[in-house]
Amino acid sequence: MEGPRPLHEHEMGDFVQFLSTQLRPQSGWSIAEEYPLAIHFSNLNNVRVIRETDGNFLSAAVMKPLIIKCPAGLFKAAAIGSVVTSPDHRNKGLSTKVLEACIEAGRDHGCDFAILWTNLYDFYRKIGFELGGVEVSLSIPENIQADPAGLRFMQSNRVDPEAILRLYSQHTTGSIRTGEDIRKFLQIPNSRVYTAWDAENKLQAYAVEGKGADLDGYIHEWGGGVSKLLPLLQFAVKSSKRPLHLISPSHAQNFIRQLKEAGATEHSGVLGMIKILNAPNFLLKIKKYARAMNAEDTVLEPRDGKYYLGYKSEIFSTDAEADLVRLIFGPLKASQLHPFDKETSETFEKIFPIPMWVWGWDSV
Ligand SMILES: CC(C)(COP(=O)(O)OP(=O)(O)OC[C@H]1O[C@@H](n2cnc3c(N)ncnc32)[C@H](O)[C@@H]1OP(=O)(O)O)[C@@H](O)C(=O)NCCC(=O)NCCS
Repeated sequence: MEGPRPLHEHEMGDFVQFLSTQLRPQSGWSIAEEYPLAIHFSNLNNVRVIRETDGNFLSAAVMKPLIIKCPAGLFKAAAIGSVVTSPDHRNKGLSTKVLEACIEAGRDHGCDFAILWTNLYDFYRKIGFELGGVEVSLSIPENIQADPAGLRFMQSNRVDPEAILRLYSQHTTGSIRTGEDIRKFLQIPNSRVYTAWDAENKLQAYAVEGKGADLDGYIHEWGGGVSKLLPLLQFAVKSSKRPLHLISPSHAQNFIRQLKEAGATEHSGVLGMIKILNAPNFLLKIKKYARAMNAEDTVLEPRDGKYYLGYKSEIFSTDAEADLVRLIFGPLKASQLHPFDKETSETFEKIFPIPMWVWGWDSV
């Protein structure tokens, strides 16, 4: 048995076959089509595998480094996915080893945190991940009312990636992408792209539903002005002839409010599972953000295996990194973490959760 180690170039075909057989036995496409940036020759160094010497793959996971901009600063994240062990070799610690190797690769890249999307909470908690980030899911009513405002609507994946990039770049938070990245994302199977165009044929809004085996019925990527997005959603619901949901970062408050006024119902959830990879560096960035938010006296210190969190002289200490995740990314409010005094709770609740978000195309 060898590994965990990165994937070799000549192994790509067998590797994709292994993942597709294990994770997508029913679908008519290869898993590499679903994750065109992560399962790609350019990302081989960030894949970790355990393989029988000259034999079958036994366990694997894929890591993709992302640079995420948000009002709290620039963060580097290690997005992890396609975690699998072949059924005959489960419960021997192989996935744990592969994930630890991915985390190490993330640290080597200087990532601030690792993030993954799963429902196996207990499995990932053992490796130090915690549910974090705030997600709002809205069910879009089938009879949503919106003024089409002279727009022309289309459902087609054949859209100029640069036009989408122009709107995507207006988001205050998300990964840094190129037009080429978006061109690849547009080809992901089982995905519907809705667009709204003005009289000059300029893209005004887009919304993407579905992504391979995931996010069916969920609009996980969208962009454009609220007045253009609402009629686009009306078109999407009518064309898909089934209920649709939209996933949004909680800080898109104007959009969420208008969707709710148009009859959408809101459910809150979490973005994913997060593990901080380099606490001193990460906390320094967060302190800088706190300073920019006029909370100069915020205390966020790692010391002697503990974390000291507070404001002025009101300090709480914890040895659980999970507390940092739940406070800084949400969904926990400071007052739910510890009975801080009023000033500290109010200060923390002004700063946290940080408005960080990862859009659906980046979920590995
Ligand atoms: C989940 C999976 C990757 C674990 O692989 P593995 O090599 O058996 O994992 P390890 O041996 O390192 O760890 C096993 C531990 O996880 C726990 N575990 C395994 N599957 C679990 C599950 N579905 N839910 C919760 N815990 C689980 C085991 O109880 C064991 O715990 P223990 O160490 O306390 O005994 C493997 O079961 C698998 O490939 N499943 C199908 C694909 C999948 O669901 N991938 C995850 C996508 S997010």
